[in-house]
Amino acid sequence: MSLLTQAAPGDTHVVIETGQTALVIRIDKEQIPTIVHLGTKLRNAAEYGTISGNGKRGEDYTGIYNSVYTPAGSRNLLEPAIQVTHADGNPSLDLHYVRHETQPAGDGVVLTKVYLKDPQYPFEVTLHYKAYQQEDVIEQWATIRHTEKKPITMQKYASANLYLPAQTYYLTHFHGDWANEMNPSEVQLTEGIKVLDSKLGTRADLFQPPSFLISLNQPADEDRGDVIAGTLAWSGNYQLAFEVDPLHNLRIIPGINPYASAYSLAPNQEFTTPSFLFTYSSHGKGGASRSLHRWARKHRIPQGQGNRLTLLNNWEATYFDFNEEKLSALFKDGKKLGVDLFLLDDGWFGNKYPRNNDHTSLGDWQENKKKLPHGLGYLVKEAESSGIKFGIWLEPEMVSPKSELYEKHADWVIKLPNRQEYYFRNQLVLDLTNPKVQDFVYDVVNGIMTKNPTLGYIKWDCNAVIYNAYSATNPNQSNLFVDYVQGLYKVVERIRAKYPTLPMMLCSGGGGRVDYGALRYFTEYWPSDNTDGLERVFIQWNYSYFFPAIASCNHVTDWGKQPIKFRTDVAMMGKIGYDIVVSKLTEPELQFSQEALKTYDRIKPIIWQGDQFRLSSPYTSDVASLMYVNEAQDKAVWFSYLVKNRYKAGSVAPIKLKGLSPDKKYTIQELNVYPGTKSEINTSTATYSGNYLMTIGFNPQVSSRRESVVLEVSEVK
Ligand code: GLA
Repeated sequence: MSLLTQAAPGDTHVVIETGQTALVIRIDKEQIPTIVHLGTKLRNAAEYGTISGNGKRGEDYTGIYNSVYTPAGSRNLLEPAIQVTHADGNPSLDLHYVRHETQPAGDGVVLTKVYLKDPQYPFEVTLHYKAYQQEDVIEQWATIRHTEKKPITMQKYASANLYLPAQTYYLTHFHGDWANEMNPSEVQLTEGIKVLDSKLGTRADLFQPPSFLISLNQPADEDRGDVIAGTLAWSGNYQLAFEVDPLHNLRIIPGINPYASAYSLAPNQEFTTPSFLFTYSSHGKGGASRSLHRWARKHRIPQGQGNRLTLLNNWEATYFDFNEEKLSALFKDGKKLGVDLFLLDDGWFGNKYPRNNDHTSLGDWQENKKKLPHGLGYLVKEAESSGIKFGIWLEPEMVSPKSELYEKHADWVIKLPNRQEYYFRNQLVLDLTNPKVQDFVYDVVNGIMTKNPTLGYIKWDCNAVIYNAYSATNPNQSNLFVDYVQGLYKVVERIRAKYPTLPMMLCSGGGGRVDYGALRYFTEYWPSDNTDGLERVFIQWNYSYFFPAIASCNHVTDWGKQPIKFRTDVAMMGKIGYDIVVSKLTEPELQFSQEALKTYDRIKPIIWQGDQFRLSSPYTSDVASLMYVNEAQDKAVWFSYLVKNRYKAGSVAPIKLKGLSPDKKYTIQELNVYPGTKSEINTSTATYSGNYLMTIGFNPQVSSRRESVVLEVSEVK
C-alpha cells in the first residue's frame, strides 16, 4: 500500500492552467502520474507541491485511483481509461511518465503534452491538454502508438480520465427521442459507475447526447457552486463513465464507446482519440455555459464570430410535392418575407427512382428531370433574380435500397451478408470506412458546388443509425464504428478545405448530431424536428448549457398551438428561419413577420455574440426567461415566455436581470409587438440602474394575454 498522493521531494508537477482553472498532475519518484487538483487555480503555482493526500483520497491500495489515464491489466482495480492486448497476447498495461512539454498553440491557447510509456513494451500514450486561457476551457485528448511486431488490440481508449474530491456529486444528463430531444435529469451519484452512452453508429444522439454537467456538493445552480460542463467531440458511439470510487472521489472517464469496438492498431500507426472538452466554473451552470459559448464561437464553430443567413425552407410547405413553378413562387414569398436564402429540402433528386417519398432514391443525387427539368443551376439563378440566395438539402451518407447507387454498389453499403436488411427510415448507411465511398460523398458535394458556385447553403442530414454493422471491405470489422466517424470527418474536412465559408447545417433526423466533433465543420445545427414554440423553449434551453445561440437553427413552422408571435420570439433566440407557406399568412401575421425580421437584423449581434443568462427556468416557474447581453453591457435582449396555463399563471413578481453593468442606466422597450396590440411596457419612459434591475428586477408582464414578451434593454448615454 502506498500513499502516492502525498507530495515527496523529487515529485514533478505538470500544471495545466486557464485564466481561472487548474488541472495539476503529480509525477512521483516512480514516474506514476496522478491528478492532485482539478478546480480553481492557486495564485502561486509553487503551492501545488504542497497539496497532500486529503481525507477523501485516503489510502488507496494501488496508488492509481487518481491516475491521469488509468491503464488496465496491471494493478488497476477500478474503471480503466485504456485497456489493450499487446501483439504477444499480454493483456496488461502500465504507463509511466517520460516527459512533458508546453507550447503556445494560438491566441491565448497553451498546449501541454504529457508523454507516457509502458516500461515493458514499445507502447506510448501522449496526453494532450489545450488550455484556452480566456474562455476557461480545457480540451483533452490522447494519442496512442506502438512499435510492437504486429498490430495490438485496444479494448478501451478513452479521451480523458478526470478525478475530483467532493462531499456529493450531482450529475445533470439529458435524454429523449425523436422530436423530444434534451430532457434533463439531475441525479446524485452514489458509489459505483453510472454510464451514459450511445450505440447508434452514425450519430451520438437520439436517446442521450454526449454532454453533461457535474455539480459538486450541491445540486447545480445557475450562479453559484462548482460545476463542470463536459462534452465529448465525437459524432458516433460514445461512453461517459462516472465512477464514485471506494474513497468517495469522482472519476470521470469520457471517450469512444468500447462496445463492439476493440480497435486493431498497426505498428507505427497513431490513433487519436476525440477531444473531451470541459470547463470548470465556480459560478454555477451559467458561468460554465458562457465559457463554452465563448470558446465555441472563437475556437470551434466555423465563422463563430461571423454572419449567418436567415432562410425559408420548403419542407413543411411542400414535403416532396413541388416543381419549378411552385418553388419560384416560394422564392418570391421568401423575398417578400425578408429572408436571405431559400432552402430546397428533400425530394429534388432521383430519376430511375424519383424521390417522391422517403422509401427511395438516396444516393442518386441528380436532379429529378420531371420536377426540375432545368436543373439546380436554373433554380439558383431564379432565386438570385428574386433577390435571395439558394441552398439545398443533402443526405450524402445514406442509400435507399431502391436506388441506382444500391444496384451498382451493394458493397458500399453497411449490412451483414447473412442477415435480412433492417431499415431506419427505410434506408441504409454507406460504408464511409471505405475510401471509395468517402470519395463518392465528397464528389457529390463538390460536383454540385462546382456546377453551381453561388449555391449558398447545404443542409446535411443523417436520418439513419447503423444496424447490422458490417463492412464489405474493412479488414477489421471491429474498427467499423470508429472508422465510420473518422471517414465522415475526413470527407467534411475536405469539403471545408475547398469551401471554407459555405454555411452548412448539421441535421440528423432532428437533433441527433449536436456535438463539437461535427461542429468543427458545420456552421449551425438543427436542434430538433419539433418546432412547436412551447417545446422549443425547453429544447433550446437545454442545448444552451453547451452550445451558443449563433449555431442553433430555430425555425418558425406550423407545429404547435402557439401564435406566430410566440413562435417567432422563440426562433429569435438563435438563428431564425421559416418553414411555412408565406402566402397563407394573414395580413397582420405577414406584417408582424416582416417587422420581426428587420428587428432581428438589428439585434442579432447581441443574441449571437452576447453572453447568455438563463433567468427563470421553465421547469420551476410559470415563466421561462433568458437574456443576452453584449460585451459593452450597453445592450441586452430579454425573452420571456408563459410555459404553464393554469389560472393566473404569469410573471407575478419582477425577474432579476443579470450581466448588466450596475452603474449604467438603462431603458426598457418592448420589441415584436403584434400589430393591433399595445405594449404595456412602452408607455413608460423610466430609466433604471443596472444595479436596480439586477437587485430588484423588472416585471415583463407575462400573462395569458401576453404569452411571450421580448424586451430590449439599452443604456441611456
Ligand atoms: C429529416 C429532417 C427534416 C427534413 C427531412 C427531409 O427528418 O430533420 O428537417 O429535412 O429529414 O426528409
